[in-house]
Amino acid sequence: MTGFAPYEPDAGGRTPAAVSLRPATRGDVDGILRLEVAAGRAAGSVGAAEGYRRAVADPQRCILVAEADDDGRRSIAGWAKTHRHVEAVDQAPPGHYLGGITVDPPWRRRGIGAALTDARLQWIAARADDAFYVVNLRNGASIDLHRRWGFTEVLRAPRLMGIEFEGGVGLLMRAHLDAAERA
Ligand SMILES: CC(C)(COP(=O)(O)OP(=O)(O)OC[C@H]1O[C@@H](n2cnc3c(N)ncnc32)[C@H](O)[C@@H]1OP(=O)(O)O)[C@@H](O)C(=O)NCCC(=O)NCCS
Repeated sequence: MTGFAPYEPDAGGRTPAAVSLRPATRGDVDGILRLEVAAGRAAGSVGAAEGYRRAVADPQRCILVAEADDDGRRSIAGWAKTHRHVEAVDQAPPGHYLGGITVDPPWRRRGIGAALTDARLQWIAARADDAFYVVNLRNGASIDLHRRWGFTEVLRAPRLMGIEFEGGVGLLMRAHLDAAERA
């Protein structure tokens, strides 16, 4: 189950969505699970729900939801998280990682992924000089999404952070964060 968006570099962005970002709470976990299932990203298991509940309570992580007005009802149009790895895993160094992002398919190409990424990078910049993420080489949408922050490839491997990459190639990416953002 990859759930990657189709790679459409020439599709162009749609009208930006009016969303508000906020830290996720335990009350968001059911909505996050529904989004993951709808996007084909994950099974809505009890174990996944428990993992998300732990994540939102962890002060070493930044877990955000993007709320949109969906015909008068607030709904979660996207969410994203960071991981702080304290030890090297596989070939990936310790540090703050952008640790996953999903935007509900009907809301894609409206700037929500970029907004969630910018907010997480500001959170990391307040704590570290560098940010990392790992991505499947086949996930062109994600690679293009992250380009504007100057991520560059550190290395590629079949397994990183415990993830076996479908297709056999994952990339470890790093961006040096602007000192001004850390101030
Ligand atoms: C990747 C993902 C989070 C992007 O979210 P989004 O809200 O659609 O992204 P944005 O609208 O902010 O797009 C910002 C830029 O990213 C790039 N991009 C986003 N989706 C793209 C796609 N399908 N194909 C090519 N480039 C894409 C574009 O450069 C885009 O700018 P543009 O729309 O002006 O051309 C979304 O497609 C998704 O949830 N994918 C499935 C989950 C996933 O792969 N997560 C990443 C795991 S590492």
